[in-house]
Amino acid sequence: MPKSIKKVAMTSEDIPEEKMVELKQIFPSAFAEGKINWEKLKLTLGAEIDEKVEKYGLSWAGKANAFKAIRVPATGTLIPQEKESVDWDKTENVFIEGDNLEVLKLLQKHYREQIKMIYIDPPYNTGKDFIYKDNFTENTSDYYERTGQSKDGVKLTSNLESNGRYHSDWLTMMYPRLFLARNLLREDGVIFVSIDDNEVANLRLIMDEIFGEENFVAQIVIDGTPKNDPYVVSTSHEYCIVYVKNLDAAKLAGYGLTNPHYSAIQEIWVGNQPDYKKVESKLKEYFLINNLKSDNLSNYKFADEDGVYRIGPIDDPQNSGPKDVRLNPLTGKPCKIPNRGWSCTIDTWSEWIEDNLIQFPHDDMVAPSKKTYIYSDRTDVLRSYNKVQTRKDTDHLKRLFGTPITPFSNPKPRSVIYDFVKNCNDKNLTVLDFFAGSGTVGEAVFQINAQDDGKRNFICVQLPEMIKIEGGMSNKEKKVAKAAIDFLTSINKPLNVAEISRERIRRAGEQFSKGDIGFKSYELSKSNYRQWNTITDKDDEQKLKTQMQLFLEKPLVDGYDEESVVYEVLVKEGFSLNSQVSQSVIPGKLGIKVWQIIDGERRMFVTFAKKLTQEQAGSLGLVEKDIFVCLDSALDDTTKVNLVRNFNLRVI
Ligand SMILES: C[S@@+](CC[C@H](N)C(=O)[O-])C[C@H]1O[C@@H](n2cnc3c(N)ncnc32)[C@H](O)[C@@H]1O
Repeated sequence: MPKSIKKVAMTSEDIPEEKMVELKQIFPSAFAEGKINWEKLKLTLGAEIDEKVEKYGLSWAGKANAFKAIRVPATGTLIPQEKESVDWDKTENVFIEGDNLEVLKLLQKHYREQIKMIYIDPPYNTGKDFIYKDNFTENTSDYYERTGQSKDGVKLTSNLESNGRYHSDWLTMMYPRLFLARNLLREDGVIFVSIDDNEVANLRLIMDEIFGEENFVAQIVIDGTPKNDPYVVSTSHEYCIVYVKNLDAAKLAGYGLTNPHYSAIQEIWVGNQPDYKKVESKLKEYFLINNLKSDNLSNYKFADEDGVYRIGPIDDPQNSGPKDVRLNPLTGKPCKIPNRGWSCTIDTWSEWIEDNLIQFPHDDMVAPSKKTYIYSDRTDVLRSYNKVQTRKDTDHLKRLFGTPITPFSNPKPRSVIYDFVKNCNDKNLTVLDFFAGSGTVGEAVFQINAQDDGKRNFICVQLPEMIKIEGGMSNKEKKVAKAAIDFLTSINKPLNVAEISRERIRRAGEQFSKGDIGFKSYELSKSNYRQWNTITDKDDEQKLKTQMQLFLEKPLVDGYDEESVVYEVLVKEGFSLNSQVSQSVIPGKLGIKVWQIIDGERRMFVTFAKKLTQEQAGSLGLVEKDIFVCLDSALDDTTKVNLVRNFNLRVI
């Protein structure tokens, strides 16, 4: 099929458009002239349609705005900040400074279904802790301007309970971010969201709506320091809500922490079977040598043709199990019925017999036992209750920054994130945190990789929220802000939270001598593509003409920086932020400069040459799947038609 000449993508993906394409593939008959025919769709779905007016679900003032926020594509771009980065050329970790809604949109094309784990610790909605962008048609820079914020951002709106939309505003902020985050998760991926009592109920409801309640996994309790000024009850815990993208896929993904001795035990079985008595005596020896005699692991002292196993009671812990007569297949006589009744129904009993999961005695005065094979036992899977010492991490930050007071309050305990990442049981995963704060996720990833030679990497996103001392702050908040301001001033950095995060990650990396301890830093910025200004004065034909002329002749903003444009093309064409970007010169007397972008198997070439001949473009040796990007005005029509036969041509 002949390819067409396309304009480079000017914005991020159009999410609703893309969902329409998916819908069209499933129900082609429900579409006419590109639009959905509701009646036909209803007929196709038949009984699945709920016609009732009253429905179960969560609704709030502004839900329509949340959907609008998803629909408006991002016009901004990410520009590299090499000087702020560590090991730019080698690292696979990414730090992005900017508003996470816009950033999540820009990540959609490349990172869709690529992320195994997302951890976020969003503002808990305590009255003044979140920034809320309510006009989705503008880009971040315009938003900063309109709201009188500097590029470094300050808190715009305190979300006070008295404003009447206290929970609504928080939900409108969270919903689009979670929706876009879900797209980035792999089918077997998991998301952890920290939250406290303020919004836990609402969060569960929107998570149910976005991820599906069938994909809910747990509401982990993180028990830390009791809050000050308790009345009636002193609350000392918060939560971490866990959902997976698709429970069936996650079940097969092997989550959990495998005991390091499991593989040695497995080897004893493999090396000595079918002499299971020998396997059992070797296991005994192994537990003795490794000082495991009093460890639960030493319960795995039996072996048969299916592996090494332990045995446990088969009676009902609730003391209310069935007490029907069940036969011992070894003796052909009834088994001893447990006093508390059987722990399973007769159907499950039959399945267990089939799967060799019951150990029958030769003596019918003894009750049978339930077998658990070592390969199926993930005793070290995450628990839903976690006791932490928050002080340890505050002290750790003080030490890292060398400050008497922490410059960031309430960093999440590293041990919690460490366990979440470790529990994924995947040494190559990517972790995304789009409310990065002090960058705890970055440090946890460094730490785990250093311990087990893993190749995990992270993407952290943090708003450059300005740090300043304001009225209405508590004494503690003022002290923390002052510590941050003094620290950032001492290292000559702008006074915003993204600087704190980056510096934390830099310093955290220095603690480890192994693994990738670098990161590439990017900044969310205005697009390099000229933006269309709506002309409201209908009579002003001249203005319109001038603008159209400008678009044709100068599609890029005045004084644009080539590297920034290259990265904008890279992001919007869906290349990895870890792509290799280099420059070369097309051989020949004109010496035309070309940027080369390599992302695994994918290659893209970008040039800003004012005029290009077919020979010059041809001399790059591009193949059919390569992308070549140049100015629209650089090629005449015949050359365009000829080039597009050989590779993908995009014009700016
Ligand atoms: C509760 S803190 C996260 C703390 C972090 N887990 C840690 O261990 O340090 C939430 C962070 O999200 C940031 N944030 C809030 N709104 C944001 C937005 N729209 N985009 C990016 N970051 C945002 C805040 O500046 C704050 O640093």
